[in-house]
Amino acid sequence: MVKPMQKDSFESQEHWSRVYSAKPTESVSWFQEHPAISLEMIARSCEPPATVLDVGAGAAHLVDRLIERGYRPGALDIVPEPLEQVQKRLGDRSSEIEWFITDVTRFDSPHPWDVWHDRAVFHFLTRPEEREMYRSVLRASTRSGSTVIVATFGMNGPDRCSGLPTVRYSPESLSEELGHDYDLVETAFETHQTPSGVAQEFVFCRFERK
Ligand SMILES: C[S@@+](CC[C@H](N)C(=O)[O-])C[C@H]1O[C@@H](n2cnc3c(N)ncnc32)[C@H](O)[C@@H]1O
Repeated sequence: MVKPMQKDSFESQEHWSRVYSAKPTESVSWFQEHPAISLEMIARSCEPPATVLDVGAGAAHLVDRLIERGYRPGALDIVPEPLEQVQKRLGDRSSEIEWFITDVTRFDSPHPWDVWHDRAVFHFLTRPEEREMYRSVLRASTRSGSTVIVATFGMNGPDRCSGLPTVRYSPESLSEELGHDYDLVETAFETHQTPSGVAQEFVFCRFERK
């Protein structure tokens, strides 16, 4: 369920392919050994076997932990390289995951998800029209009662990542950005330590769709 790539998607794809071919996934600044806040928020939202889509999943370990717990995850990324690493890591268990290689702003989901999870993707959408497209995909990929977890750089976080500009959010501004259809039910701040030892503020927001 992937729409044809547009020029801006191609540029973004080229960028992220370069990033993933430049260093091992354990060395990228966003690498996280254990996605504790994400797992806690998902557990508080719904029980297995709920479906959980990890948007811009990269090579994150979230999907590994989710299948261990009995959830039914999907992993979506604009480039195949990090997803192929996860598939290799999981071996036979990779068949328990739905895989999508597409720009999230052009995603056509085959079904609605119980949980939409995005760590460190939405903050790269610096143009209002991209955020509008994201919101419309989010709406089409969830239903009333679905959980939406979005983690971005906080107001004290960096304004660039991986050579790209980012938008920093507070829980209030992120909530405003998503709009009235999503109730903010939980917020958590995390100081993420990059592999090179830099501290970055993240804000995690859990919403429930009305
Ligand atoms: C900063 S990394 C975060 C990866 C992962 N969520 C994590 O927490 O480890 C951003 C990821 O989003 C992907 N990405 C960037 N723009 C995207 C887009 N428009 N659609 C889908 N994936 C995108 C990148 O390829 C990369 O894997």
